[in-house]
Amino acid sequence: MPVTYSVSSKPMKNFTKNKIICGDCVEILKTFPNECIDLVVTSPPYDNTRFYKTSNEKELNKIWNFEKFKQLSKELYRIMKDGGVIVWVCNDAVINGSESGTSFRYALYFKEIGFNLHDTMIYMKNSAPFPEKNRYYQCFEYMFVISKGTPKTFNPIKDRKVKWKEPWGQRSERLKDGTLVRKKFINYHEYSIRRNVWKYNTGYGFSTKDEIAYKHPAIFPEQLAIDHIRTWTNEDDLVLDPLAGSCTTCKAAKLLKRNYICIDIFEEYCKIGEERLKRVVPKLL
Ligand SMILES: C[S@@+](CC[C@H](N)C(=O)[O-])C[C@H]1O[C@@H](n2cnc3c(N)ncnc32)[C@H](O)[C@@H]1O
Repeated sequence: MPVTYSVSSKPMKNFTKNKIICGDCVEILKTFPNECIDLVVTSPPYDNTRFYKTSNEKELNKIWNFEKFKQLSKELYRIMKDGGVIVWVCNDAVINGSESGTSFRYALYFKEIGFNLHDTMIYMKNSAPFPEKNRYYQCFEYMFVISKGTPKTFNPIKDRKVKWKEPWGQRSERLKDGTLVRKKFINYHEYSIRRNVWKYNTGYGFSTKDEIAYKHPAIFPEQLAIDHIRTWTNEDDLVLDPLAGSCTTCKAAKLLKRNYICIDIFEEYCKIGEERLKRVVPKLL
């Protein structure tokens, strides 16, 4: 059963949108009104794979740890609208030869406090770090789609070219008893809904054309944020990134005429975001 978290004691008097806020995400979200956010697209620090502006694991642990995640997820439950969606992009470090499994801990904790684990999606990269000798190249991250109830908006992207154009084209479906049935296409469309593994070109010059963004050590591709925002929101909805880094999510939201709020604990990253947002001309893609 969903757990209801207490109403914030000091909700922000003048809750304004379309801004970047510098500070600790949990403390800032405590000032947000209940049920104000339509979509979150975010990614946390991945174990200790980057130190950001801190100098070592111990320092990083002061700003981000599993306890902080628990507090953040509870605040998110309070401020998400019914049917709101969180896209949680993450991956694990390999520690002493074993993957940490932190990604799954995050996903299961979201469920524990009342969210749905709506879809476990994959973000596949064309670049991959050189692996240790005994494993394959690591070329994907998780995109957990977490929802508060049933997602209220779903605008599926239809960009998968349908292979069988001929009217005699068939699709097969396996029934629960194992029988294979063949079905004829009735309504043929040239493009069909995309599957839940999304592939992006990554790395310098591909994740974004904004050179300044690469001053942040761990950006996700702009197109990833654009695709999720188009899928889970409509124009004028409010999109949040509480761990915003270079503000990729907010750039995408502004571009798509959505409202946005970005939070990052480090001023230097917030400044990168301000610079990126200045240049954005909103348009509906
Ligand atoms: C993986 S990065 C996000 C990158 C972002 N998706 C982008 O495209 O630029 C995670 C960010 O979380 C921020 N962060 C870590 N702990 C935080 C906290 N307690 N409050 C706010 N931001 C935090 C870090 O400074 C870092 O920029």
